[in-house]
Amino acid sequence: MNLVRTSLIAACAIAAPLAMAQNTGKLKVGLMLPYTGTYAALGTAIENGFRLYVTEQGGKIGGREIEYVKVDDESDPSKATDNVNKLVKRDHVDVLVGSVHSGVAMAMAKVAKDTNTLMIVPNAGADAVTGSMCAPNIFRSSFTNWQPAYAMGEVAVKKGAKRAVTITHKYAAGDESVRGFREAFEKGGGQVMKDLSVPFPSVEFQALLTEIAALKPDVVYTFFAGGAAVKFVKDYAAAGLKKSIPLYGAGFLTDGTLDAQGADAADLLTTLHYADSLNTARDNAFRLAYAKTYKLQPDVYAVQGYDAAQILGIGTNAVKGDLNKKAEFAAAVEKTKIDSPRGPFMLSKSHNPVQDIYLRQVVGKENKMLSVASKALADPARGCKM
Ligand code: BEZ
Repeated sequence: MNLVRTSLIAACAIAAPLAMAQNTGKLKVGLMLPYTGTYAALGTAIENGFRLYVTEQGGKIGGREIEYVKVDDESDPSKATDNVNKLVKRDHVDVLVGSVHSGVAMAMAKVAKDTNTLMIVPNAGADAVTGSMCAPNIFRSSFTNWQPAYAMGEVAVKKGAKRAVTITHKYAAGDESVRGFREAFEKGGGQVMKDLSVPFPSVEFQALLTEIAALKPDVVYTFFAGGAAVKFVKDYAAAGLKKSIPLYGAGFLTDGTLDAQGADAADLLTTLHYADSLNTARDNAFRLAYAKTYKLQPDVYAVQGYDAAQILGIGTNAVKGDLNKKAEFAAAVEKTKIDSPRGPFMLSKSHNPVQDIYLRQVVGKENKMLSVASKALADPARGCKM
């Protein structure tokens, strides 16, 4: 046996157990989420939901124990590429789970695509992630920014509104949310008089609230979430606008925020793929388990984290723990109905949930479901070539 062949055989003998160890050893989950700043509570709820599902499976996914590697991304897109590269190239995670902020998620998706790393987005709605950046290894358990916004545009038309003003944080999520609202609102004959915005994460709303009072629209449409949503709802009421101009929002405006918003949020109408009063056996069981584990009520972010873990479970079980089998992983996820607390849903070809969007109203400390505003709404996935 010549030297080259001997060393090749030796190398294979070493490589085989290593490869096996990769499929049977701990499954490394890179949680890249905000744990500080405006969206800190959202990151924590996503992690709670994710861990709850894993615990329900006995701590294993696809037969493999889970090891978490956590990064606080601070909702800062300028740090996102470095952060995600560390998870992929230094920590060698098997799957990226993140993030909340659309700008951060787009940076993550680029690295995931370039390195063919499995990625599951548990919140960020950036349309591009399952649009022009779509990829076989990228999945989303949440929504696109277009989905709840488009549904709210239709609601505003049905309520008879003709003239709207929009107000949001100036970044991808806010811009796309406003665009989705405008698309449906203008299709129904409405007119957006003015788009107002503040830079992310500023919460200096006063000058813009004065402008809204002067413009006197029939309705204001807004996208704010987390700490900014709390402040906006309180400022809107304090400015005396709540009595005169209905405030509509993508449901993030009142999700996970009601304790802090108190009476200022009462009666607000929003659209989202989750509500607090679905009263299905599936959701009731989830809510009870979450409340018992964390001594907290769940919100939409917790549901999305839980469903991100479900997606990972479906794919990983199908490939018996071998995450190198990306095509088989994707095929299994694509054909499975996900048994979500929000109601069952399937992923579209671009890997975004096709889901009911609920019209909700704040009643006490709940986002009460009034109706299904849009049944099985699929994002148009513009630019996705998959
Ligand atoms: C986003 O940046 O996509 C986002 C952030 C918070 C709530 C919803 C969407």
